[in-house]
Amino acid sequence: MNDASQASLPRHVCIVMDGNGRWARKRMMPRTYGHSRGVEATRRTIEFCARSGIPELTLFAFSSENWNRPQEEVNSLLRLFVQSLQQNTAELIDNDIRIRFIGERESFSAELRDQIRESEQATAHNRRMLLNVAANYGGRWDILQAARRLALDVRAGQLEPENIGEADFGAALATGDSPNPDLFIRTGGEHRISNFLLWQMAYAELYFCDTLWPDFDEIEMQRALEAYAGRQRRFGKTAEQHSGAG
Ligand code: IPE
Ligand code: IPE
Ligand code: MG
Repeated sequence: MNDASQASLPRHVCIVMDGNGRWARKRMMPRTYGHSRGVEATRRTIEFCARSGIPELTLFAFSSENWNRPQEEVNSLLRLFVQSLQQNTAELIDNDIRIRFIGERESFSAELRDQIRESEQATAHNRRMLLNVAANYGGRWDILQAARRLALDVRAGQLEPENIGEADFGAALATGDSPNPDLFIRTGGEHRISNFLLWQMAYAELYFCDTLWPDFDEIEMQRALEAYAGRQRRFGKTAEQHSGAG
């Protein structure tokens, strides 16, 4: 990768991995088959992002609202999480990738919680890329838990309400001191955020593609990165200010 493309590489990419169910249905297979094939796309994407030098990747694996799916599908998804962590933590270590779960984990089984803790601890010192897995995550949940955390600090006399700034609020979110996502990708053709990183995505560049998640590959990811590199991020300023003419 040359310097120019390196400079326009996002520091943080977040992805709504959507379309597993439709991918399976098109093949007359159960939705759960789509989820297990989706894991392969997830592995490819993690590996490609790490190799490309993207420092942080956040994947939406299970939303707060996904509990409303048929019990059998939910169970199969949760089983798949345990399995993929068991099978792939060694590869994360080999690739110097740190994994961190964001979301409310108390609702998970003891087995899944233990496996999450184990994978987080085993990779805690890895530095090449930070991989956040959003599981039982919702953007509104995140904003609420941050508000509660700050309220507790206020009650404890450690914080004055009038002094709460954007940085304090951001730090109380599940993503903590991570940079905000520069690029948001959603596969599967829907054009919505579905309660992903609401606060953090305020200025993310949005990229949507029709490809169903199990078909997402390096070429598709490269396309998203190229689209991102071609965007002018103005953050409220004028185009002239950004070209240096204003
Ligand atoms: C995304 O694929 C995976 C999860 C939400 C866990 P879907 O299961 O939403 O697939 P579609 O959107 O029904 O095709
Ligand atoms: C968003 O996909 C959540 C994940 C990919 C984990 P959904 O398929 O649940 O979103 P909606 O229901 O189409 O908005
Ligand atoms: Mg979906």
